[in-house]
Amino acid sequence: MSEPKLVLQAEALARHYRVRRGLFAPAATVKALNGVSFELRAGQTLAVVGESGCGKSTLARQLTLIEPPTSGHLQIDGVRVDAARRAQNQAQIQALRRRVQMVFQNPFASLNPRRTIASTLAEPLVIAGGYSAAERAERVEQLATTVGLRPEHLRRYPHMFSGGQRQRIAIARAMVLNPGIVVADEPVSALDVSIQAQILNLFLDLQAEFQTAYVFISHNLSVVEHVADRVMVMYLGSAVEVGDKQRLFAAPLHPYTQALMSATPQLKAAERRERILLKGELPSPLNPPSGCAFHKRCPRATARCAEETPLLREVDGRQVACHVV
Ligand SMILES: Nc1ncnc2c1ncn2[C@@H]1O[C@H](COP(=O)(O)OP(=O)(O)OP(=O)(O)O)[C@@H](O)[C@H]1O
Ligand SMILES: [Mg+2]
Repeated sequence: MSEPKLVLQAEALARHYRVRRGLFAPAATVKALNGVSFELRAGQTLAVVGESGCGKSTLARQLTLIEPPTSGHLQIDGVRVDAARRAQNQAQIQALRRRVQMVFQNPFASLNPRRTIASTLAEPLVIAGGYSAAERAERVEQLATTVGLRPEHLRRYPHMFSGGQRQRIAIARAMVLNPGIVVADEPVSALDVSIQAQILNLFLDLQAEFQTAYVFISHNLSVVEHVADRVMVMYLGSAVEVGDKQRLFAAPLHPYTQALMSATPQLKAAERRERILLKGELPSPLNPPSGCAFHKRCPRATARCAEETPLLREVDGRQVACHVV
């Protein structure tokens, strides 16, 4: 069987922000994203995990073309986004934007309170143009049914729905133009635990039906285990371990991945890991430690880790950036 088509390729994507620290202090650079590479194929899910502030949402903004990267580049369906931007080819940039849609953590904030659901779902079709009113209505109704809404819901406003239903609406809107790629940034974190599984299953059903590729950002490893094919663990703007979900969950290699996984409660005693407590806090990306960014908190750090930045390399069927593994 041939592999599904490559839809998204990130090559050393980096995003740095200039920030002012005070009226007279010199500006500093926050390396929010520091050279992240990956490939994603149709119908597959890459989950991105890591502590708050490690650059997950910054990555999402690069992938959805909300912001251009400081360096590195992105290919969508094999088309280089930086080339389209340099050529100021607006038609091509619009077409690429349509291929990548986003689902946010808070569906209430991302839905316009003054629009009915029908109008919210039809909006991307209006902007894209080329659809008659009847075609738009048909597409909207069909999609509403697909995500588990009823026809009478379409005339209602966002405040008339529960959180889970609102997230269904936000997902439907992301899917209206049949994007090849959906970037979901903590899409179930704001939902009641009892609703989370339903929304995750909706993501999986839509993926099975439309072969959508997902970049699924979550700090919750149980969620990741449910939806991911591959997992990328990030620490302070960089990937520290990337690989197949099964392999990563069965035997995490990077000390940071091990610590993250040991912190997830397990129901079955046999699957419980000894909790690894990390020393200190996540360092500031304004002033990252030398060498391996994780070395000050790492239980296995050596002198080399303070000096030399480890690069991702192949170990046991996945990629790990660590000197001691
Ligand atoms: N526009 C900006 N200007 C300056 N710094 C920024 C900007 N956007 C993000 N940052 C910084 O970049 C780092 C990464 O932020 P980001 O929002 O990507 O983290 P995250 O992994 O999504 O965190 P969380 O899990 O809390 O959502 C943080 O230190 C943040 O303060
Ligand atoms: Mg975020």
